[in-house]
Amino acid sequence: MNFKNKVCWVTGASSGIGEALCYIMAKQGARLVLSSRNAHALEKVKSACKSKGAKECVIIAIDLADPSSIDRAFKSFSSQFSSLDFLVNNGGISQRGLALETDFKVDRKVMEVNFFGAVNLTKKVLPLMIKQGSGNISITSSVVGKFGFPQRTAYSASKHAVQGFYEALRTEVEKEGLKVSIIIPGRVKTNISIHALEGDGSEHGKMDAGQEEGMPVDKAVQIIAKGLLSGKREIMVGGKELKLVQIRRFFPSLFYKIVARIKHT
Ligand SMILES: NC(=O)c1ccc[n+]([C@@H]2O[C@H](COP(=O)([O-])OP(=O)(O)OC[C@H]3O[C@@H](n4cnc5c(N)ncnc54)[C@H](OP(=O)(O)O)[C@@H]3O)[C@@H](O)[C@H]2O)c1
Repeated sequence: MNFKNKVCWVTGASSGIGEALCYIMAKQGARLVLSSRNAHALEKVKSACKSKGAKECVIIAIDLADPSSIDRAFKSFSSQFSSLDFLVNNGGISQRGLALETDFKVDRKVMEVNFFGAVNLTKKVLPLMIKQGSGNISITSSVVGKFGFPQRTAYSASKHAVQGFYEALRTEVEKEGLKVSIIIPGRVKTNISIHALEGDGSEHGKMDAGQEEGMPVDKAVQIIAKGLLSGKREIMVGGKELKLVQIRRFFPSLFYKIVARIKHT
C-alpha cells in the first residue's frame, strides 16, 4: 500500500516532520491538504509537493489554538473533499522552563495547541471516517508522552493527554474499520526547540544541542510513513533516547538517576 490517490490532511505541514512527511506522500501521488498558521511557508511546501508529484495539493490555514479557525478549516475541507484517508494531527509546540518559573498561560497554550486543537479536529472528521468505514487518524505524541522530563511539564502533560485520548479512541473506532496511530518521536532534528515557549510565553529561539543531534527528519518520516501505511498502533522513531521508555517502565529508579544527570535542553 502507498499514498497514491489517498486524501491526506496534515497539520503542522509548514515545517519539520509534517513538511517532510508531505513530501513522501506527494512523491507517491497523494491528494494533500496542508495546514498550519504560516500561509507563506505553506505556499512553498505546496509548490514543492506539486513538483514532487502530488495528485492534488490544497492549503487550508488553521490555528490549532483557536476553535473558530478549526471550524472554518473543517468547513473549507468539507467543501472540497468528500472523503479522508489520513488525518495526521502533527502540529504542535514545545516548552522550555521549570514549572516554578512557567506562567500558567503557557500551560494553557501548550494544551490548546497540542491537545485540544488535535481533539477538536479529530472529532470533526470522525463522522466522515465512520461513515466511510475506513481511515487512519494519527497524532504526533512524544517520548515525553510516556514519561516526565525536566523543563517540559506543560509539554509532557499535553503529550500524556494525547496518549490517553487516542489510546481510548482506538478502543472505540477499531471495530468501525478505523486505525489510530500514535507517533512517538524521540529527538528529531527540526525547529521545534526554536519555537518552544519559555516561562513567560516568549520563544526559546535556540536550536538546542539535543535537537541538533536528533535523527535527521527525512529518515524519521520514512519510518513514520511506513507505520501509517501499515496502520501501526504506535510508531516509535528516534535514537537511543527511545530506550528511556522501557527503562522508565521496568527500572524506574535507574530512570530517575539518568534524567537527573541529563543536560536539560
Ligand atoms: N522534533 C522532535 O524532536 C519532536 C519530538 C517529539 C514530538 N515532536 C512533535 O512533532 C510535531 C511536529 O513538530 P516538529 O518537530 O516538526 O517541529 P516544527 O518544525 O516546529 O513544526 C511544528 C509545526 O506545528 C505547527 N504549529 C505550531 N503551532 C501551531 C498552531 N497554533 N496551529 C497550527 N499549527 C501549528 C507549525 O506551523 P506554523 O508555525 O506555520 O503554524 C509547524 O508546521 C509536534 O507535535 C511536536 O510536538 C517532535
